[in-house]
Amino acid sequence: MTIHHRGRDARSRLRSVHQPEAAAPGGSSPTSAGSLTRRSLLGAGAALALAPGAASAAGTGARAAGGVPLGGAIQAEFMEVDPGYKQAFLDHCDLIMPMNGLKFSLVHPAPDQWNFEPADRVVDFALQNDRLSRGTCHVWWGATPDWVERLDTPAAAEAALVDHIERIGDRYKGRLTGWDVVNEVIANDPASEGPLRQTVWLEKLGPKHIPIAFAASARADPQARLVINDYDLEFVGPRFDARREIMLGIVRQLQDGNVPVHSVGMQGHLYAGRQIDKEGLERFHKELDRLGVGLMVTELDIIDWETPPSNAAQDKTAYELVSDLLDAIFAWKPPQAVTVWGITDRYSWVPDVLPRPDGHPDRPLPLDRDLRPKPWMELLKSRLRAG
Ligand code: XIL
Repeated sequence: MTIHHRGRDARSRLRSVHQPEAAAPGGSSPTSAGSLTRRSLLGAGAALALAPGAASAAGTGARAAGGVPLGGAIQAEFMEVDPGYKQAFLDHCDLIMPMNGLKFSLVHPAPDQWNFEPADRVVDFALQNDRLSRGTCHVWWGATPDWVERLDTPAAAEAALVDHIERIGDRYKGRLTGWDVVNEVIANDPASEGPLRQTVWLEKLGPKHIPIAFAASARADPQARLVINDYDLEFVGPRFDARREIMLGIVRQLQDGNVPVHSVGMQGHLYAGRQIDKEGLERFHKELDRLGVGLMVTELDIIDWETPPSNAAQDKTAYELVSDLLDAIFAWKPPQAVTVWGITDRYSWVPDVLPRPDGHPDRPLPLDRDLRPKPWMELLKSRLRAG
């Protein structure tokens, strides 16, 4: 499923976000992540505090018997037309979640219009087969419907956000182990853009849209594990250090405001040509743990465009990246789950948004186009099984 409402535009914006070479949008004054104060991001958020303990019981559901759950995000539109694709999730995954069906613009395209069918199909499929499922995502710049963009007062924007989250959270209560409540709220390049990404939600409500979304999610489903999800948290370099610091800052400020946040989701779109920051990631994981917050990998895949065009070379790069990522995370403790973003190279956002410049087929996922597991699938399974 693609994000239809904006087609090409949405794709090119996604590309500029995930492309390492992307020029930083100008206009805003540079703010170094190091200068963030404890309350500078979410100032008004404390007003949204829940009663102490109101949502302390982060839904467990994160750990399947015998290890760390392996999740897979499925595209509902291919489930019935491609039985092999559907079966592959049963063959390999403990958790099966809708890749797109719960994104705001798809599930709630107009104020009075809800489209639950694609997500329901996936969630029913997961639960009927004794798998877990989870939801993504309430707040994401890439799936904000036009009608939300047109809301012209902060009160109207807040009411729309809260109503959306409460209705959808309530509808799936008890069926999803948790939610990516906010996705990609950290600036792509904090040094030039300031800590938070410029989005419709930031423009309309300021940083407090983050605690508003978490508090509403907790009210809607007090057992749900609430996740703040973002990309580019795992590599070596000042931009990635800054993004990790900002993530910790947001988590601390939510906690200071008594707003529940249970896990950080690291998307894990891994780029050939980048290095996993093993020490940095271990420190990050340790600090989250000290704060009582878990870590999960939510959208694992490989962007292999800087790898020579051969299956063997691409798969070797993928294996090394995944191996380094798992080493870095497990160095402190097992993650709560690892979810791959799709399962087979047949269907992925990567060739659509980040295609190889040489035109050679990308190999982003753990099963090839014929559904054969690559070496990194075996690695992933054995590490997760051992827990
Ligand atoms: C992508 C999906 O994979 C595509 O099918 C869809 O058309 C657009 O969104 N980061 C995210 C995901 O958080 O939600 C994106 O998923 C990929 C990048």
